[in-house]
Order: sequence, then structure tokens, then C-alpha cells
Amino acid sequence: MRKTVIISAMALAAISFMNACNNQAAESTAPKEAVAGGTEDKIKEGERLVASLDCEICHSPKRMGPKGPEVIPELRFGGHQAGTELPPYDEKTVKSGWVLFAPDFTSVIGPWGQSYSGNISSDSTGIGMWTEEQFKKVLREGKFKGLDNNRPILPPMPWEAYKNLTDEEISKVFAFLKSTKPVKNVVPTAKMNPPPPPPKS
Ligand code: HEC
Repeated sequence: MRKTVIISAMALAAISFMNACNNQAAESTAPKEAVAGGTEDKIKEGERLVASLDCEICHSPKRMGPKGPEVIPELRFGGHQAGTELPPYDEKTVKSGWVLFAPDFTSVIGPWGQSYSGNISSDSTGIGMWTEEQFKKVLREGKFKGLDNNRPILPPMPWEAYKNLTDEEISKVFAFLKSTKPVKNVVPTAKMNPPPPPPKS
């Protein structure tokens, strides 16, 4: 686990640097009236937390803009998009100890294999059908889908940092995510160690 913390911290440092120009996360999208899962104030607070904790750096697909990667508004929080073509797998670089990020940071290859950021939008393919308890179990205990018998969450999801959030903060984050525009996307299954073979062609 300690190794995971270090990897997550390194990944966060790298992407924070790359994300310096991309400040879209601060834009308000919370609805005006109360919605299922929370009041307007709670949702606003959740939105502020999500922007500060930068869930979007990994969970929102991006396209390249003049200042670097930009969030694609209609895919916000939709996770790694199924069918996205990624650059060729560079086995030598990974074997030499480097970690590879997809250009929009939604997929990462490292010693654990290849992970894909989950869909955390309000769609049923995201967290739309989740309970708050499930959501808390991801952030507190690092359980995939927030279910007890599931595998541990893979890097670079920094749950070991987020487990320090209070119950109230987690509840606000959840209320905000439940209020987001649904993005239909079934995220590909993670490829566990050993890393995937180079694609054919
Ligand atoms: C540095 C990248 C990164 C950041 C930042 C990040 N995540 Fe993740 N997250 C991931 C990856 C990658 C996965 C998938 C891991 C796996 O397959 O085990 C994931 C998985 C999840 C899951 C589980 C999805 C599922 O289907 O089980 C939830 C919920 C989640 N993240 C919420 C958040 C929230 C909320 C934030 C911000 C507070 C956040 N994440 C920030 C990378 C990140």
C-alpha cells in the first residue's frame, strides 16, 4: 500500500503541473433548485470540494486545446471513454520503471497493469444507482464499486488521500456528483498485472 501512496502522490504532482492551465473544474454546473440527493447549498459545497480535489483531472475526458488538455463539457465525469484509441503501448518504457498516462489522464499504465478512471457522473453506468455507503467505501477503504468483496481500487485513484475527508464532506461530494449531467459510458475493465501486450498492427 505504501508503494501505492507514493505512486499516487507522484502521479498527482505530475498531473497538477500539466493541469496548471486547465481551470475548468471551477465552473459552476450545479442546478439552481434542490435535486434528489441534496439541497442546493449542499450541492454547491460538493462542487467546490470536487473542484479543489480535482476529481476531473482523471475522471473527465479531455481534448487538446491551445493551453493543453481541456475538459470536454458534455463528457464531464464520464470516466475513460469506451472505444477511445490510445497511443501505442511502449513496453520498454514501462519495463524501465516509467508510468504512462493517456493524453487526457483517464487511463494509466504502471506496474499494476492498466487502469481506467471510473464513470462518476449521475448516469446509471456511473454512480447514478449507487448508495452513499458504497461511495464512502471507495474513498475510505479503496474498494472497487464500493462493494466489500471487490478488488482493491488501483492507482492512481488517490483514495488514501481522500479517506481523510469527513463524512459530511463525502456526502457533499456525492450529492454534487449525483446532480451532474448523466454520461452514458461503460468504462473498460482494468487490465491487471502483467501489463497488456503491445497492440497488433
Ligand atoms: C489521479 C487520478 C484520479 C483522481 C484525481 C481521482 N480519481 Fe477516482 N479513480 C481513478 C481511477 C484510475 C479509478 C479506477 C481504479 C480502478 O479501476 O481500480 C478511479 C475510481 C474511482 C471510483 C470508483 C469507480 C468504480 O466504478 O468503482 C470513484 C467513485 C472515484 N474514483 C471517485 C473519485 C472522486 C470523487 C475523486 C475526487 C475527489 C477522484 N475519484 C479523483 C483516478 C482518479
